Amino acid sequence: MLLSLKLNHFRNISSMELRPDKAVNMIVGENGSGKTSILEAIYLLGLGRSFRSRSLKHLVQHQHSQLQVIARCDNNTPVGLQFHLSNGLQIRLNQTPLKRLSDLATQLPIQYIPANCHQFFELGPKYRRRLIDWGVFHVEPEYNYHWQSYKKSLQQRNAALKNRSKRDELLLWDNYLNRHGMELTEYRSHYLERLRREFKVLFSQLCPAFADAEVTSRFSIGWPKNENLIDVLLANIEKDQQHGYTRYGAHACDWTLKINNADPAELLSRGQQKLFFLAISLAQLKIIHELKKQTGVLLIDDVSSELDQVHQLILLDYIQSSPVQSFITSTNSELKSWVESKDDCKLFHVEQGQLST
Ligand SMILES: Nc1ncnc2c1ncn2[C@@H]1O[C@H](COP(=O)(O)OP(=O)(O)OP(=O)(O)O)[C@@H](O)[C@H]1O
Ligand SMILES: [Mg+2]
Repeated sequence: MLLSLKLNHFRNISSMELRPDKAVNMIVGENGSGKTSILEAIYLLGLGRSFRSRSLKHLVQHQHSQLQVIARCDNNTPVGLQFHLSNGLQIRLNQTPLKRLSDLATQLPIQYIPANCHQFFELGPKYRRRLIDWGVFHVEPEYNYHWQSYKKSLQQRNAALKNRSKRDELLLWDNYLNRHGMELTEYRSHYLERLRREFKVLFSQLCPAFADAEVTSRFSIGWPKNENLIDVLLANIEKDQQHGYTRYGAHACDWTLKINNADPAELLSRGQQKLFFLAISLAQLKIIHELKKQTGVLLIDDVSSELDQVHQLILLDYIQSSPVQSFITSTNSELKSWVESKDDCKLFHVEQGQLST
């Protein structure tokens, strides 16, 4: 959770200071006023990257050479991030320069819901893997070690395949992939079952039309079920050499949740698909809170796109009553009276990169 946030020369925002509230922080403003930029700054603070630009140079205000995002988290830890066009990114956590981005992510669990998130499940396995791995990363302390080790072994094996290295060398990497890959799979499988349970409760609340729906999970581990990964890797060396990469393993896993045995993309309307994605994100934040006692941050861009007012209010009621801090943008003031009636919610108006009252 964030207690304070300060931005300098971030996109169209020259200087801005926010004192967010515990539950819902509603950011209202016209097109181009700077709403998404505020979400982007919080995301940058938690993940060290942007959700809309590959290069951080685009985030620096035109005619300036550096941006700053400074915040205080709920355990009173100061986090400061600076990106300079020539000197690059520098992050300080608790006054100390940060070495690994994963330390930043551990500090502030963030889920971002883009306006077009209903398309998420069509984006492909890479994105679905990222989503579930984000959750496992936050709740399993050993996960990052196994993932980093797995990733390095995979790069080495792929290089060895391309160089047509001897079987002995490949066998070495196969053993590593097997060891770390089995651990990753175990973590993911446990986590997915927990996610399914939390999701079911949440989805029935956010989308009452599916209150009694059955929710099942599908988990494809990345290689043929009931076989050992090491055997699969060994049996496929020649084919992998022809392809030039390792086809089976934990890096090829995929998952989905089905509603009444149907694919969400086939069954649900666009608004319901958005609620589906929101329920997954909120379920992840709930699991983190239960297991790690951390209050995560939910960023929702353009909440009114695809959602009618009834469903927006159901969503806000849920967020307000749960241990999650949210930053929600909207181009209209439809939800103003709801926000103003709650003690732990705040409304911010943005105009041309500045807060107005
Ligand atoms: N590096 C930059 N320096 C200055 N201004 C920028 C920079 N990059 C983008 N902008 C401008 O910042 C403004 C704010 O953009 P932002 O996406 O935050 O708006 P928004 O309030 O989310 O609008 P919308 O409602 O259309 O989504 C835009 O006018 C954009 O053109
Ligand atoms: Mg926007």
